[in-house]
Amino acid sequence: MSTLNLSIDKIFDFVSKDKVYAFADECVKQNKALHEKTGKGNDFLGWVNLPSSITPEIIKDIEKTAASFRKNCEVVVVVGIGGSYLGAKSVIEALSDSFYQINRPKDTPLVVFAGQNIGEDYTAELIKLLDKKKYGIICISKSGTTTEPAIAFRILKGHLEQKVGKPHAKELIVAITDAKRGALRTLATQEGYKTYVIPDDVGGRFSVLTPVGLLPIAVAGFDIAKLVAGAQKMEELTAPDVAFEDNPAAIYAAARNALYKAGKKIEILANYNHKLTFVAEWWKQLYGESEGKENKGIFPASVTFTSDLHSMGQYIQEGERHIFETVITVKNTNHNVAVPFEKDNLDGLNFLAYKRIDEVNKMAELGTLVAHMDGGVPNIIIEISRLDEYNLGLLFYFFEKACGISGYLLKVNPFDQPGVEAYKKNMFALLDKPGFETDSEILKKRLGINK
Ligand code: PA5
Repeated sequence: MSTLNLSIDKIFDFVSKDKVYAFADECVKQNKALHEKTGKGNDFLGWVNLPSSITPEIIKDIEKTAASFRKNCEVVVVVGIGGSYLGAKSVIEALSDSFYQINRPKDTPLVVFAGQNIGEDYTAELIKLLDKKKYGIICISKSGTTTEPAIAFRILKGHLEQKVGKPHAKELIVAITDAKRGALRTLATQEGYKTYVIPDDVGGRFSVLTPVGLLPIAVAGFDIAKLVAGAQKMEELTAPDVAFEDNPAAIYAAARNALYKAGKKIEILANYNHKLTFVAEWWKQLYGESEGKENKGIFPASVTFTSDLHSMGQYIQEGERHIFETVITVKNTNHNVAVPFEKDNLDGLNFLAYKRIDEVNKMAELGTLVAHMDGGVPNIIIEISRLDEYNLGLLFYFFEKACGISGYLLKVNPFDQPGVEAYKKNMFALLDKPGFETDSEILKKRLGINK
């Protein structure tokens, strides 16, 4: 079985190996703290041994529910935001045909997302699509009280009930939420929906390997057993007794912290495959919410090359030198397409004739690596062998474990997100939610709203 290869050699021109290895003991200690639950946020460490706790029975049960959606629905709407959305979205985008909205296997429903924004046009256009389709809903919210998915679910539930009748609608709805708390749990119990539980000790952004990610991914036709197997392998490779130099998550955590200390405040996750764009979105939430607190934290950004070399390339090459790149490179493609030979060679491209497109892409990647290093940008490289379920499982757990260690190196609690509440409080006050009257008056005055 393939594994993930991490290389940090290309940062040593900018930060010495000694400075990275200075974090070694602390990384081993913090990895142990994650497993022994002795660090900050230790009531949210259910993800640490999650892969190895997933049994074939759990997988089978999720696959059975997925099969029912696949049999009965042309479209499945996954309602959720943040950690209740990005994991599933990233796998589906990474593994589906690029044109899957039209070009997907027969009997595979189109999986679409809702409640990940408050877009009125988006909602209206989704309803227009659902008017014409047989559909089901997977509603995901750990807290069960998040406004964006709650609005979407209220609308979609009403639409589905009107379309197929309340008794049939409830068979087409699955709720994934807390075991006991929250409005979604209350609603699911009252309406009799099938439910899955998000464990208390697994936070949203670490929940991709719970039913939150696994059910939508299975509905889209992907092999969740392989995804879990990849994560299980990485759990093994990053176990607490693994030495620093053999533990890729510890090395990545040490490298990025050494760079941060050396003034590299922005990490750009770069990929050379547009299918990984949403994996980067998932990664940004993971690191942004976990580390960005107490006025600390590397700012996580992302680019998809070579497209973004024509937009962000200039800044990365010559802008302020406070950035480093982490490149996800995919060794093998799943297809084989070459550049054709042309007799007249009017476009001057015959030097590429018969070369695989991927060879051109890989040379762009290597050329960019050297150019960016010459421009003062350290590069960390993460190589996976191909885009499939197993490798994504490796990658997810690798990033999660590294995030836990890295957050502890930074001395923050990587498992809370107090800052997310600030906008919610103001939004509720501005919308005159009962209980927010005082804030409402102050805010409206500050914003110059006279009502
Ligand atoms: O990581 C987190 O916990 C958050 O970003 C949540 O995933 C996000 O806010 C959605 O929350 P919920 O699942 O409670 O609706």
